Formats: sequence, C-alpha cells, structure tokens
Amino acid sequence: MIAPAELRHLASRRAAAGDARRELVADARSAFAADVRRDLQRRPRQLQAKYFYDALGSQLFEAICQLPWYRIPSAERALLEAHAEAIGGLLPELATIVELGCGSGAKLALLVEGMRRAGPMLVRLVDISATALELSARTLGRLPGVSVVGHRAPFGPGLRDAVTRRSAQGSMLVLFLGSNIGNFHPTSAIALLREVRDCLRPGDGFLLGADLVKPEEELLLAYGDPVGVTAAFNKSLLERINRELGGDFDLDAFDHVPRWNAERLRMESHLVSRRDQIVRVPLADLVLPLRAGESIWTESSYKYEPDGLVALARAAGLVCRGRWIEPSARFALALFAG
Ligand code: AVI
Repeated sequence: MIAPAELRHLASRRAAAGDARRELVADARSAFAADVRRDLQRRPRQLQAKYFYDALGSQLFEAICQLPWYRIPSAERALLEAHAEAIGGLLPELATIVELGCGSGAKLALLVEGMRRAGPMLVRLVDISATALELSARTLGRLPGVSVVGHRAPFGPGLRDAVTRRSAQGSMLVLFLGSNIGNFHPTSAIALLREVRDCLRPGDGFLLGADLVKPEEELLLAYGDPVGVTAAFNKSLLERINRELGGDFDLDAFDHVPRWNAERLRMESHLVSRRDQIVRVPLADLVLPLRAGESIWTESSYKYEPDGLVALARAAGLVCRGRWIEPSARFALALFAG
C-alpha cells in the first residue's frame, strides 16, 4: 500500500509537471502570437511556414505526400531504396542516426533496413510536431535492433540536444530529407548546415535530400494540386490562428495560389484575399485590413541545381562524398562530411 505522504508527494509532482507543460504551451502560444502580429504587418504580408505543423497541418502534409504530382517522397524513396547500402558502406562505424524533421519515419526505416546492419542502432528524431514524432517512433520501433529517442524541438536546438547526448562509440549520420532545406532562405540554410557541420566528427556523415529545379508546369501542378489538399494545408495556418489566437479569418475568402519565382528558384505559396476585408486576431492584438487580390505569403520551397546544392553545403564547410539523382522527378540525395 502507498503511504498517504507518498501519495501527496506523487500528486504534487504530477501537478508540477502539469504546470510546467502549461507554461511551455503558454510560451509557445505567445511566441506564435508575436510572430503572427509582426509578420502579417510586414510588406509583403507573410506567415512563417514552421507554424503549419500542428496536428492538423502535419496530417495534411502526410496526405500531400500521397499525391501523385507531389513527387518528392516517391523520388526520395526510390533513391534510398537503390543506394542505402552504398551510403552505409561510406559510414562503416555507424551507431547513431539523427533525423531532423522526421515525418512518418518511413524513409528512415527504408534507409536503416537497406543498410543491412547487424548491430544496434540508436535513432534520435528531432521535430517540433508531436504527431510526427509519435508516428515516426512507432514505425521505427518495429525494426529489430533499433532504439528510438524523440527530441521535440526546432532543428537547431534539437540537433544540439541530440549531439550532446551522443555516445562516444561509433559514428553518427545526420539526416535532413524531404527537401526540408528548401523551406529555408539560402542564408538561413547555410547557417543551419553550418550548425550541422559543427556537430560532425571525423567519420560522421550528413545526408541531405533536396528537390531540383524542374519545368514550371510540373512545379505548379505539384504545389497547385487539383485535389485541393495543398490548399487545405495552406489554409490550415489561418485555421490555426483562429483556433489558438481567437482570429476570425473566413477561410472561404482566400485562394491558395502557388507561384514560381524563376529569379530566386523558389516556389511560393500564397493566400490571396478574394475581397476587401478586415480580419481580427484578438490574442495577437491585431486588426488586419486586406484588399481584394492582396496576398499573404506563407511558404517558400527553394529548388536547387545539383551543383548549387553542393556549393550551398560547401559554403557551410561541408565536403561532398557522394551524390545520387533521380532523373525523372529531379530530386537529389547528397552525402557530406564535415
Ligand atoms: C515540407 N516541405 C519540404 C514541403 C515543400 O515542398 O516545401 C511542404 C509543402 N508545401 C506544399 N506542399 C508541400
């Protein structure tokens, strides 16, 4: 039987954990409110793509990954299937994999299985989405010899946390797949890659998956998406503002508009106001007048030429050790050392 004093101690620990969780949620919400307030008042008006990935946005992104015209996942899967063994061959002492932005875990599972390693493997997953971490941990937990640790954090802090805890034994592979690098402005991309480089020891590797420049009509189809899942994904950001910050965005008053910016080599996702309107977001202390045709820019997806990708990584101090290209969808995987 548990003594009353022990019960009281347990109850107060549980209450303290609940308080800490509520504090974290409140901090995240006030950061969201401050960003929404600042970014919607900028010209052009904008929102940060990292806020897509709450439970709803993460599920919608998983649905996008099933669309036949959004070819990044299938192209990357084909490359991982074909080259996992070669990638593993370049990392003979591999004991730890750190994945930044883990998604469903399916790609990492392909890589781990394809490497055909007998020994144990510790996988550290870094993601801000609790849904993605849960999905991924479930997929990977089924693989023999694989243990999984989740780090719910943005890429930079999550990577630092994962690396601080790495074991002295064996080498480490950091993964940044799915063309997540494309959602960073090149200057921020170099800064992130430099953080990765600073974490690598001799014998470690960094595997980067990036979408390549391709004909505009293919890009417009991939991001325009005639089924409308991508429009729902884009509008889910407004729905999140309504839900978490008390906003009154009318989702029917916006069109999802993808645009190819040929000068900057990036797809841009916009939400364009269908009419003159005034939107209120009380918890961000914001009253937002929008004209008909005015746009809120929600995401950039940079596309690279193969040499441009290697040059980007070189600017961060990374050296290319291997590069594999899927020629039909035009997608690249590249392995780097520090
Ligand atoms: C997650 N990220 C790499 C996707 C992309 O292609 O930029 C997000 C996305 N947005 C619209 N479709 C997919």
